[in-house]
Amino acid sequence: MHTAPPPLNTIPVGIDAIGLYTSAYYLDLADLAKTREIEINKFNIGLGQYQMSIIPPNEDIVSLGANAAWQIIDKINPEKISTLLFATESAFDGSKAAGIYLHRLLNLSPNCRVIEFKQACYAATGALQLAASWVETHPQEQILIIASDVARYALNSSGESSQGCGAVAMLITANPKILTLEPYSGTYTEDVMDFWRPVYSDVAFVEGKYSSVIYLKALEASFKNYQQKSGNYFNQIDYFCFHAPVPKLVEKAYKSLLKLNRRDIVAVGGINTAPTDEAIHQKLNPALDYARKIGNTYTASLYISFASLLDNTAADLANKRVGFYSYGSGCVAEYFTGIITPHYQNQLLTQKHQIILEKRERIDYAQYEKWHQFSLPQNGSEYILPNFKTGKFYLEFINHHKRFYSAK
Ligand code: HMG
Repeated sequence: MHTAPPPLNTIPVGIDAIGLYTSAYYLDLADLAKTREIEINKFNIGLGQYQMSIIPPNEDIVSLGANAAWQIIDKINPEKISTLLFATESAFDGSKAAGIYLHRLLNLSPNCRVIEFKQACYAATGALQLAASWVETHPQEQILIIASDVARYALNSSGESSQGCGAVAMLITANPKILTLEPYSGTYTEDVMDFWRPVYSDVAFVEGKYSSVIYLKALEASFKNYQQKSGNYFNQIDYFCFHAPVPKLVEKAYKSLLKLNRRDIVAVGGINTAPTDEAIHQKLNPALDYARKIGNTYTASLYISFASLLDNTAADLANKRVGFYSYGSGCVAEYFTGIITPHYQNQLLTQKHQIILEKRERIDYAQYEKWHQFSLPQNGSEYILPNFKTGKFYLEFINHHKRFYSAK
């Protein structure tokens, strides 16, 4: 068995509120399958994906992020937010942090610092760990994390069916009302070219199969490191959230954790037979429900999965341990856990999240392709964006290479 874990944090720190947002439009993968002459079961069964949110021209990472933060606005006291951390890999500016636009849109204090984080889909986890350490030493302060991304691959490429867009906003505080982070996490870094986006490209390049292999390799390495540090074994984790680029890969990831931990599972009286694919599907489905409809949201993905688990699990999760696998291509991975706070249900925004998803409008393939090919003028001229459906915040116009956002 593993060594005894180090003592827990003296002050509980973690997620006090969580809200998500995705665009008001989606493409049903049946329409993509028809156009590309692909059997629909490849997407629905082979990849576990049904729809993907598509961003209209008048939304971007700033409006997505601001609209996610708006979901939790009544839980935010601007005077208490000492820091806003904005995580993204879809930045449109190599210099100014996108979070500064949110700082204004959300009326945060002039004394609040703002920073942008980047490491592919891992960035929000880096932000979360740094925020937690800061709040532990400054428990009167709160940190707002916004993770916002637009997953884009070239038309007719192998990654095309794993696009999507979305954002998540999380309030990190002492004595959190949803999840207390445990102080042990396993990390893994390796210099690999599985997925990348040079600054001159607005679509990502990817070695799809290789990226899936590295995702699983980094899971094993970071989980082992987590076990070494925490002393926890697999059976002590009740629920699982994974970075979800394609839902089927998450099911494979869970299976590989079961295989890795077979000896420990049996040692504590667990059954020595692998669960069926259907049992794994059922176990992970609450955490994957939103990803199946939204698609990949890069750095927001793991936390949208957490919101999905909270919103779609009828059982009381109080005092349960949740395992989180964060993976960002390139690559950095981290495995960590947290314990759900009693009465967390009072903090959930289940209805709001479900309305955002249900109210999305289905677009046809032609509209999807048109928006995919859309780009803002790059010559500094004024351009007023068409008035497509958005959340409260939207990109209204650009002029002299500057973006101007408005609120409804
Ligand atoms: P692909 O070429 O679309 O699919 O690649 P495939 O040919 O491998 O088929 C997928 C599965 O569908 C296979 O099952 C087929 O058998 C099955 P498997 O062998 O895997 O068990 N299939 C069918 N099933 C039922 N009925 C049918 C049928 N036909 C086939 N008729 C891939 C899939 C994920 C590679 C691709 O979508 C891709 O390149 N996506 C982008 C990259 C990606 O998502 N990688 C995941 C790991 S990297 C990561 O997570 C980081 C990332 O989020 C970025 C970041 O960190 O910033 C991407």
